[in-house]
Amino acid sequence: MPATSAPKQGTEAGGHNARQPRHPSSSTTTTAPRAATTNGAGRIAIELRHIDKSFGGVEVLRDVSFSLAAGEVLGLLGDNGAGKSTLIKIITGVHQPNAGQILFGGNEERGLNVDRARALGIETVFQERALADQLSLWNNIFMGRPLTHWLGFMNVRAMRKITSDLMGESMGFTSAVLTPDTRVTGLSGGERQGLAIVRALHFEADIIILDEPTMGLSLKEVDKLVQFVRSIKAAGKSAIFIDHNIFHVYSVADRVVVLDRGRVAAELSTSEYSLDQVTDIMREIATTGTFVDPNGKQSRRATTAAETTGKAS
Ligand SMILES: Nc1ncnc2c1ncn2[C@@H]1O[C@H](COP(=O)(O)OP(=O)(O)OP(=O)(O)O)[C@@H](O)[C@H]1O
Ligand SMILES: [Mg+2]
Repeated sequence: MPATSAPKQGTEAGGHNARQPRHPSSSTTTTAPRAATTNGAGRIAIELRHIDKSFGGVEVLRDVSFSLAAGEVLGLLGDNGAGKSTLIKIITGVHQPNAGQILFGGNEERGLNVDRARALGIETVFQERALADQLSLWNNIFMGRPLTHWLGFMNVRAMRKITSDLMGESMGFTSAVLTPDTRVTGLSGGERQGLAIVRALHFEADIIILDEPTMGLSLKEVDKLVQFVRSIKAAGKSAIFIDHNIFHVYSVADRVVVLDRGRVAAELSTSEYSLDQVTDIMREIATTGTFVDPNGKQSRRATTAAETTGKAS
């Protein structure tokens, strides 16, 4: 059953005006079940109901119901080809489902496309594709959304200044050689991710999707990325975090959803299931398609976003 108890209300996509930079939080990594800490008071940011998707007659997603609460970090796990990226592309308007409903803030969105998804406050962070390499940091932050003077001219000075503030306060860029005018081509993988995430937060994205963001990053850069994901949550925003490394996902997610061959095989709250339990459940799902709940609560689905946040509030 999908979560249907979300109050009907408008989305809070917000304008794309520049706001004050956000500050990352500094919580510690844990692998034991921990208290649920979503801070969105149970509001459902996204809900998918009974989504089917096929490519050329091959079913890739089957009856997928899924929800993400405001202020929640959700880990999306599953084997290669399970349908994770396809699911994300449906949420971001890249692909249209063959059947099912998509709701943002309780309102159904029909014919969702990329522009509409962005206007609803969704940003996606991919390691390599999110940034324009040959442009400066400030150009990348304000790409498509420049600050202008009242006469309509670009306010380059203001954009440089905000970029400089974001670099110091939110991205934690300490390298002396980096300035707002530095080209992105010289950045490390972790710095690129940081820039893309800070850009999304700066423009008040409500939902930030990270699809395999740690691919090719050094250990130190992965740590930093996980801190960035925490900063998304600290800013009261939601995130969907896809990664093959369950340890990365578990250390920051409130809940994990396991996709298996195009269907939701498990939803597990990290306040109720330890890292070892989630790992065992994933292994079991990969071999049998289902699992026996070590907590005796479920056979297939567990907590929904609404239940998770309800527990926290
Ligand atoms: N545009 C497309 N046309 C045809 N088939 C597609 C298309 N996109 C995805 N698929 C197929 O759908 C299935 C799911 O792919 P998807 O990329 O969603 O998996 P994934 O869970 O993200 O996998 P990975 O972990 O390897 O990134 C795969 O079998 C893939 O080949
Ligand atoms: Mg993928």
